[in-house]
Amino acid sequence: MSVKIIVGSQWGDEGKGKITDMLAEKVDLVVRYQGGNNAGHTVVVGDQTFKLHLIPSGILYDTVTCVIGNGVVLDPEILLKEIATLDTQGIKVTPEKLKISSIAHVILPFHKVIDGQQESKRRDQKIGTTGRGIGPCYTDKISRLGIRVMDLLKKDVLSRKIKKHNWKNIIPEGVLDEDQIIEDYYAYGQTLKPYVEDTSLFVNNAIKAGKKIIMEGAQGAMLDVDHGTYPFVTSSNPIAGAACVGAGIGPHKIDQVIGVTKAYTTRVGEGPFPTEEEGETSEYLREKGCEYGTTTSRPRRCGWLDLVVLRYAIRINGLTEICLTKLDVLDDLKTIKICTGYKTENGILQEFPLDLEDFSQAEPVYDELPGWQEDISQMTDYDQLPQNAKNYVKYIENIVGVRTSMISVGSNRLQTIHLLEA
Ligand code: GDP
Ligand code: IMO
Ligand code: MG
Repeated sequence: MSVKIIVGSQWGDEGKGKITDMLAEKVDLVVRYQGGNNAGHTVVVGDQTFKLHLIPSGILYDTVTCVIGNGVVLDPEILLKEIATLDTQGIKVTPEKLKISSIAHVILPFHKVIDGQQESKRRDQKIGTTGRGIGPCYTDKISRLGIRVMDLLKKDVLSRKIKKHNWKNIIPEGVLDEDQIIEDYYAYGQTLKPYVEDTSLFVNNAIKAGKKIIMEGAQGAMLDVDHGTYPFVTSSNPIAGAACVGAGIGPHKIDQVIGVTKAYTTRVGEGPFPTEEEGETSEYLREKGCEYGTTTSRPRRCGWLDLVVLRYAIRINGLTEICLTKLDVLDDLKTIKICTGYKTENGILQEFPLDLEDFSQAEPVYDELPGWQEDISQMTDYDQLPQNAKNYVKYIENIVGVRTSMISVGSNRLQTIHLLEA
């Protein structure tokens, strides 16, 4: 198999970074295809922790080339900081190791200010964005007002586009200095120039040469701007179909789609979440699972695994397999709940309702499974798992009809159980 897509099947933070890093050992390229530095992908190697926001989670290997595809929105200031941080951690991000699409859109200071303004105007309808300017930058892209990486390389073009942009009609005078923005972003462009490429050409040439590739999704299916819990979503398409658009490759090149699924559910930001728990269970999952945002440090909302959501994610992504993460977090629980449907006025729903009002009112129907109350975090073989842990995995597979190829039992690379050949 040469091209695998790794996607989140819930509301993000499923452990995509850990899984991408782990699988990257055996690949040549890791490509990000959407989102921006709203993503926070944590990779733990030995006693070192790496928090990646824009740089693909393959960067820790000398043998892997990382690509920031055209579908990503790129904040050059943050990217340069991330490169500098990695340098202090002993990872050199050279232009040989990182390729940036010349046609990726750039997040500018006014996007971040507008993101904040829009959130405060929403009052009781807040989305709880990461405040990184993601929505306003994608809005400009779709409105054909955007500034792309290649524009940073030519001062006259950059200056013209920033001056022509309507941000001064939105942001009060004195908040931002236009000339300074032009200076700063031209300087970023000069620093990033050696990294800039036609990445679609680069990735397609790699495919032709038989290289192995991972397309690393950010966010998750339920945050997808089309298919997620709109308007409580991000402004891109995290689902697998977007990998082709966001990297510039054809759909027939994709061999495998791996849905990273947390053994329970978390969500950051606002929006409906039927299996959300409050009180003891939520506290337990948050503390044991260290459920605090990688990007904004916000406590994540926690609840039980929702198989209606998972089956929906399987459908809209075309998942070929599931990677079940953080199973170890359930270790101490006596019983584990799992949602199999939603109770509504019209009976039990098995399919995700597209109307947000229905989803907001969905009352989960739970099955209760006995826990295993044993530490599984050092187990590396499926056969070592306690029977009740195996039952939990089998239960999920039976209901959703897709096989589990990996089980993650800890944040380290080695804390992974492989059920099928990767
Ligand atoms: P991503 O955005 O999908 O890459 O996920 P995040 O990195 O934001 O959040 C996942 C968190 O769980 C990180 O702190 C990981 O180090 C950690 N993690 C990943 N897999 C496991 C696992 O199987 N067990 C435990 N206990 N932690 C994990
Ligand atoms: P990773 O890749 C979890 C959420 C925000 C907010 C909504 C919109 O680490 O899984 P945005 O700033 O994108 O306009 O915010 O989306 N969100 C995430 N939640 N994990 C992420 O990324 C997220 N990226 C955005 O909290 O609810
Ligand atoms: Mg994350």
